[in-house]
Amino acid sequence: MSLGWGIIGIGRTADLRMAPAIIADPGSVLAGVVSRDQGRAEAFAARHGAGQATTSYEALLANPAVDAVLITSPNALHPGQVVRAAAAGKHVLCDKPLATEAAPAVAAVDACRRFGVRLGIVFQTRHHPVFAELRRRLQAGEIGPLRLLEVHASVGVSPLRSWRTDPALAGLGVVNNVGVHALDLVRFLTGAEFGALAAVLGPGPDDPLETTAQVVGRLSDGAAVAVTVSQALPEMPSAVAAHGDGGSLAVASPGRLWEGPLAVSGGGSRAAAPVAAPDAYQLVIEDFRRAVETGGEPLASGADGLRSLEVTTAIARSARQAGLVPVLPIDARAPL
Ligand SMILES: NC(=O)c1ccc[n+]([C@@H]2O[C@H](COP(=O)([O-])OP(=O)(O)OC[C@H]3O[C@@H](n4cnc5c(N)ncnc54)[C@H](OP(=O)(O)O)[C@@H]3O)[C@@H](O)[C@H]2O)c1
Repeated sequence: MSLGWGIIGIGRTADLRMAPAIIADPGSVLAGVVSRDQGRAEAFAARHGAGQATTSYEALLANPAVDAVLITSPNALHPGQVVRAAAAGKHVLCDKPLATEAAPAVAAVDACRRFGVRLGIVFQTRHHPVFAELRRRLQAGEIGPLRLLEVHASVGVSPLRSWRTDPALAGLGVVNNVGVHALDLVRFLTGAEFGALAAVLGPGPDDPLETTAQVVGRLSDGAAVAVTVSQALPEMPSAVAAHGDGGSLAVASPGRLWEGPLAVSGGGSRAAAPVAAPDAYQLVIEDFRRAVETGGEPLASGADGLRSLEVTTAIARSARQAGLVPVLPIDARAPL
């Protein structure tokens, strides 16, 4: 039995990344799509072979061929759409970020729990095999206790456009566009949570939404973290470097953190051959489909979406206050 997918928010990432990933997964089928515009829905459905094209989310959720909904709409719309999908008994894969505010995020996680459906977040960097290797080597103690983890995540020059210029829909700028991947990777690699952080957003203090961000922080295990993200600096590379008392391990990427063959270097062992990355979005789809099949958790779950929001909320607070702030928990058991 294939997993039938419905997509809401059929823009760039749905068209170029996620629909192709669904089609490429032998256990998945694209059952339906919803757009605000019927013509756009039909064109998308024709391009990707979806059975249903509609402007009604209700109609998509009523389609028995849809088992799971992929949400690739503007950020602030995600949690409400998660809740509606969960109430219709559909599993939900929500693109990052889960939400832009705490209360709707909690409601989304809570709804998926109450209605017994899986909730996953598209944090595809976790799925690159090089980071599974880096995590294994860090946790095996290869460089001793971790003292400093540095992450640079860059997507070249990608100006903010459309809803991404509207704080009410986007929440934050580059922090939500790119930074959430880097911040999630910190949690994935270390297994630790952010305790406190300070952020500088830019390039200027008066920009309405940031296109560069620097975050320094301390993790719950005591390690220091420095994360720099950009969608404005043409030649800034992406890289991860972990430094411990016994040495350093690093991954350098000429492009995005989750793309291309990447290798872990350092740590005293011979340089490893680059690990080829199967399409990271396809790995997300396969992982989520397996979670539905087995009743397990996807590699990045709703809880990871909440933890990510705790960090980005602290980043916004720190930028406003120009100082170090604690990362405060969001209560996932709050009533709807
Ligand atoms: N995981 C990743 O690496 C990754 C990469 C890129 C994007 N994303 C996430 O995916 C989501 C979509 O990003 P995108 O780049 O695909 O954006 P996009 O190209 O602008 O597509 C978003 C789509 O949402 C629909 N929409 C519904 N209400 C809207 C509104 N008020 N304003 C604008 N569009 C609205 C539009 O489709 P209709 O007009 O057809 O309804 C639009 O095409 C975001 O949450 C983003 O963070 C994730």
